[in-house]
Amino acid sequence: MSRVTFLTGRGGLPKLEIATAWSTAEIYLHGAHVTRFQETGQPPLLFLSDQSRFEPNVPIRGGIPIIFPWFGKPADKPAQHGFARNRSWAVKEIASPATGITTVRLVLPPCPELGDGNIALEYAVTVSENLSAELVVTNTSARAYAFETCLHTYFTVGDINTLEVLGLQGVDYLDSLDAHRRKTEAGAAIRFAGEVDRTYVNTPHRVEIHDAALHRVIRVEKIGSASTVVWNPWIAKAKAMPDFGNAEYQRMVCVETGNVAENQITLAPGATASLTVKLSSEPSR
Ligand code: BG6
Repeated sequence: MSRVTFLTGRGGLPKLEIATAWSTAEIYLHGAHVTRFQETGQPPLLFLSDQSRFEPNVPIRGGIPIIFPWFGKPADKPAQHGFARNRSWAVKEIASPATGITTVRLVLPPCPELGDGNIALEYAVTVSENLSAELVVTNTSARAYAFETCLHTYFTVGDINTLEVLGLQGVDYLDSLDAHRRKTEAGAAIRFAGEVDRTYVNTPHRVEIHDAALHRVIRVEKIGSASTVVWNPWIAKAKAMPDFGNAEYQRMVCVETGNVAENQITLAPGATASLTVKLSSEPSR
């Protein structure tokens, strides 16, 4: 049987701990942020920085930040990656049926930026031997609503130097390190020998992270997502980030599932958009 416990987490922020027959997980209400998922006997799936801050109005560094309603830092926006990750979400429902598969549903309380409830966000996190997360955006206003969104997932890896990310060959990407120029992924595997910051577009397919050091393959499967962002800050950016350890770039990679840039979503009045990511792993030998 599963167990869900409400606790006071770091920085005094409320969190939920979930224990299932297969795994454990942790969700902070701050940002509806999944900070931990670990299958029993396996290394943690999600990376969380030792230097992360746990404070209101500041994003948590690691886990799964919810990026909404914009991605990056458009000139006309006040902050990077929207505000959903910095708000306190509320628990709507916890379902823990006899199967032991546990789902926590959270909602973003109405706020002026979202028409005081005209744009509604619901986030369902399901914990079993896998972790899945679904973000549902509903437009009950009388006007179309355009937004970008991304489940900005940080994965634990054994060694970035031997890591491979597969599933993006032939896909166009915008290279954030080269003035967002459009390029096409040539190789079957993305490898890391410096900073990588790429927004792959028009790609509904799953991605695999092959981790030779931890002998595991992580699968990132998605529904309702046309973009995948791949990011590793490498040395200089790691040093420049106040909430990230200087050497932590070696044991993390972000593979982010969303709809950003030209894949932004425009929701007609009354319409709903759903984005789901399912994360699973298995030993690679
Ligand atoms: C990635 C972006 O998604 O997020 C990077 O592509 C950015 O450019 C990174 O540096 C982290 O952003 P933040 O706001 O969490 O520091």
